[in-house]
Amino acid sequence: MTVALVGAGPGDPGLLTCRAEELLAGAEVVVHDRLVSPEVLALAERSARLIDVGKAPGRHSMDQDAITELLVDLGREHDRVVRLKGGDPFVFGRGGEEADALARAGVAVEIVPGVTSAFAAPAAAGIPVMTRAKAACVTVVTGHEQSGAGDSVDWRALARTGGTLVVLMGVGRLPFIVDSLLAGGLDPATPAVAITNGTRPDQVVVRATLATIAAQPVEAPATLVFGAVAS
Ligand SMILES: C[S@@+](CC[C@H](N)C(=O)[O-])C[C@H]1O[C@@H](n2cnc3c(N)ncnc32)[C@H](O)[C@@H]1O
Repeated sequence: MTVALVGAGPGDPGLLTCRAEELLAGAEVVVHDRLVSPEVLALAERSARLIDVGKAPGRHSMDQDAITELLVDLGREHDRVVRLKGGDPFVFGRGGEEADALARAGVAVEIVPGVTSAFAAPAAAGIPVMTRAKAACVTVVTGHEQSGAGDSVDWRALARTGGTLVVLMGVGRLPFIVDSLLAGGLDPATPAVAITNGTRPDQVVVRATLATIAAQPVEAPATLVFGAVAS
């Protein structure tokens, strides 16, 4: 009666943790998101039942309450359930909500951190998010607010950190993000890089500046990096 909330990393199966691989190899059921790569899913026990609850932007295949309910039911029925999430389960992955719900339902939870795309995608493009010379801090922020929640991200304040800004889920709102950072005083010449499908064979890196990135063809899922380190 344990559900393991497991980080699948950014896509390259070589970036999976040993514990994640071990749990996948012994799983009875694997409940996974859309961004989990086929190479990682292929590591699951052959007889494991694979359930795709993935959400494509604008196409919700299963809502969050239904996913949580499914996990509680599976956790009560099986001993070895793996809830596999892209990157790290606690970085914008609803992992916290799922862990809370499972604990409230009396289902044991194991948390297995993963390599987050917030740092792995820039690294795959040769970008160190922090360096002594160029960035003393890094801020990771969502570019996509929950609908109806308003914009709780203070983009103008983020423009003034002097460090690196990493934006996840920001492709659909790239022009708004750029305008907000410019309005906050960030230099238009600030290096800006978009990494799509980071660490995967189809990785695409677009290098631009804050002033020009919104005019580039950037496809999701992408990690956006703004700051001196992106040069
Ligand atoms: C819902 S968030 C989940 C983040 C995940 N928990 C993590 O730690 O990487 C999904 C966003 O992560 C980013 N992302 C996930 N995989 C990526 C990859 N392979 N390359 C670039 N960005 C990626 C994109 O910004 C995408 O919209």
